[in-house]
Amino acid sequence: MAAICLNTGKKIPALAFGTWNASGMPRSSSSDDEIIFQVIAANGRHIDTASIYGNEEDVGKAVQRALSSGLVKRDDLFVCTKLWCAYHSRVGVASEVRLSLEKLQLDYVDLYLIHAPWSIKPDSALKPKSFMETWRAMEELYDSGVARAIGVCNFTVKKLDELLEYARITPVINQVESHPYLQQNELLEYCRSKGIVFSAFSPLGSPKRGPNNRRDDDPILLDDPVVCDIAQQHNVYPAQVLLQWGLQRGAAVVTKASTKERVGQALDACTLQLSLEDVSRLDGLECGFRYLRMEPFKRPGQTLADIWDQ
Ligand SMILES: NC(=O)c1ccc[n+]([C@@H]2O[C@H](COP(=O)([O-])OP(=O)(O)OC[C@H]3O[C@@H](n4cnc5c(N)ncnc54)[C@H](OP(=O)(O)O)[C@@H]3O)[C@@H](O)[C@H]2O)c1
Repeated sequence: MAAICLNTGKKIPALAFGTWNASGMPRSSSSDDEIIFQVIAANGRHIDTASIYGNEEDVGKAVQRALSSGLVKRDDLFVCTKLWCAYHSRVGVASEVRLSLEKLQLDYVDLYLIHAPWSIKPDSALKPKSFMETWRAMEELYDSGVARAIGVCNFTVKKLDELLEYARITPVINQVESHPYLQQNELLEYCRSKGIVFSAFSPLGSPKRGPNNRRDDDPILLDDPVVCDIAQQHNVYPAQVLLQWGLQRGAAVVTKASTKERVGQALDACTLQLSLEDVSRLDGLECGFRYLRMEPFKRPGQTLADIWDQ
């Protein structure tokens, strides 16, 4: 399995399995833990969850089952969870991570991420004086060992630049949407230059995203003729081409699969070799198209360009 090195020195599996609607839509929570267990049983070692996904308990159950059955040791797993946007404050970070650990049945997380740079509750008790307060609290988690690494999601170059001005600890990862339609090359290069891993979520174009993030005329990345043609040439699935494209450019890739077969396909994608020509054809698909536009984070009077610093 392809590995990627964090700026803490820790090597992690480059392919992560997400858990947003883990068992598919509509969510059937009784089987979330089963599919997460199947991921671990199939040799998936990097699990990505978040408090807002509402299934940290299921991740905890699956991890405990894998540990107690001797399938893996705790050190073999890399478990990431995220601070939701309503808790951007010192108190919020400290209490939220405790809750997450309890649900996950873990005494530390391998990675704690700030889910997004936008604070959604203008409630004075929760509103930080500045984003710096939240990052300082994240640094304390790292110092105490409760989070073995800390990072962010959905940060632009501008927002990372601001964070790095005062950060004592550089984030290990910036997790953002990325695939051939939204490559984010400037951000990728910026992250590389600062020792931050660029982690790509929705590498397949998030085909199962909910109605809030869907418009009738959205292009379907998995059906793109270039992607399908390359898949046919290699005798693999289009999804595997997209996953390997992300891995081959040095990104961590966070996908999701809710069946055993698709978990296997995702893991097998790590051994696919795309040629320079394949990569250049896929690179040619860039069109700045974002599937997860994050509309709900807009404040009155703001445009999407404002929230994405464009
Ligand atoms: N930090 C953030 O703000 C943020 C935002 C979005 C996502 N994420 C993370 O990233 C993870 C992945 O996001 P995503 O679901 O948008 O990613 P994605 O990898 O683009 O899409 C995954 C979906 O593709 C389908 N799929 C998987 N393999 C397939 C195949 N071989 N052929 C056709 N369809 C296939 C799956 O359907 P089935 O479910 O039917 O298997 C799954 O629902 C999330 O679970 C979450 O952990 C983070």
